[in-house]
Amino acid sequence: GDDLVVLGIETSCDDTAAAVVRSNGEILSQVVSSQADLLAQYGGVAPKMAEEAHAKVIDKVVQDALDKAKIAETDLSAVAVTIGPGLSLCLRVGVQKARNLAGRFTKPIVGVHHMEAHALVARLVKQELEFPFLVLLISGGHNLLILARDLGQYVQLGTAIDDAIGEAYDKTAKWLGLDMRRSGGPAIEELAREGDPESVKFSTPMKQHKDCNFSYAGLKTQVRLAIESKKINVEIPLSFSSVEDRCSRADIAASFQRVAVLHLEERCERAIDWAMNIEPSIKHLVVSGGVASNQYVRARLDEVVKRKSLQLVCPPPSLCTDNGVMVAWTGIEHFRMGRFDPPPPADEPEDVV
Ligand code: KG4
Ligand code: ZN
Repeated sequence: GDDLVVLGIETSCDDTAAAVVRSNGEILSQVVSSQADLLAQYGGVAPKMAEEAHAKVIDKVVQDALDKAKIAETDLSAVAVTIGPGLSLCLRVGVQKARNLAGRFTKPIVGVHHMEAHALVARLVKQELEFPFLVLLISGGHNLLILARDLGQYVQLGTAIDDAIGEAYDKTAKWLGLDMRRSGGPAIEELAREGDPESVKFSTPMKQHKDCNFSYAGLKTQVRLAIESKKINVEIPLSFSSVEDRCSRADIAASFQRVAVLHLEERCERAIDWAMNIEPSIKHLVVSGGVASNQYVRARLDEVVKRKSLQLVCPPPSLCTDNGVMVAWTGIEHFRMGRFDPPPPADEPEDVV
């Protein structure tokens, strides 16, 4: 039958995550262990350091996910794991754990593409979401517009030619001296609410390029120059800064956010027109990835899809940022279609992958 229970493991980036999901869409458990503290302490993470951080917590994260789901390994239908894209040292930690567990309990393995998982988790959230649909993936490392025609059939309409939008949010936050104990995006979103989005005139990226690609490197530079010319003392934490200083920072945050998101709006509008030509039956734009948890982003893109008589599907923030649920769910989608690998040998040596 179709009553599947799948464990999903995700270690491609900064978070070690695991989750157990049922094929009816029920999330039985969801566990995330973040390296945010490491990131804040060192202002970035070296691959070797990230690998060690994953390796330290992976057993506990997976065990917690199974315990919280009240599921024994033997009850699982399959084990799904992110196999890319990402740092190979980090990916290996997850893949090794998945193969080890699948080998010991004779479970099939489903290798999952990280970006496909960000896109397909929308079908868990909204069960009536049918192919074909459009997807905008916005995170720290990726900025993609994709036409999902069917499971495994994706047409890339646009990508980042330099920096992704999340990177621009993170750098803007850093340069404005915002609290980096969490990622920059939420800090900018919050500060932007106090600012005037029209106060600083940033130019919209790639106006003259009539395509669906993205570029945020130029906007980053504009932001840096604006901060320098306003002579903001970013050494002083925001909470101790003068009123004028706080206003200047908020104005830059709001102006940056307006233009950063305007670029998304323009590209999505064009992508919808293109995609409707190829697949006139499209009814949805899915927006996922860390930046999709931003309320302003959601509201602006909602306006765009309404103008085009489409519907926006945006997973809740905990399913937009990296998580194990999206991996488990994508595993279910592929497993149902017979796309999986047989169980690895039970006595496989640790360093085989
Ligand atoms: O998908 P994700 O968790 O990891 C990657 O695969 O990159 O996305 C992380 C990115 C970071 O750049 C972070 O600043 C951004 O998502 N982000 C946000 C918000 N929450 C997270 N950006 C803008 N507004 C937010 N509320
Ligand atoms: Zn991601």
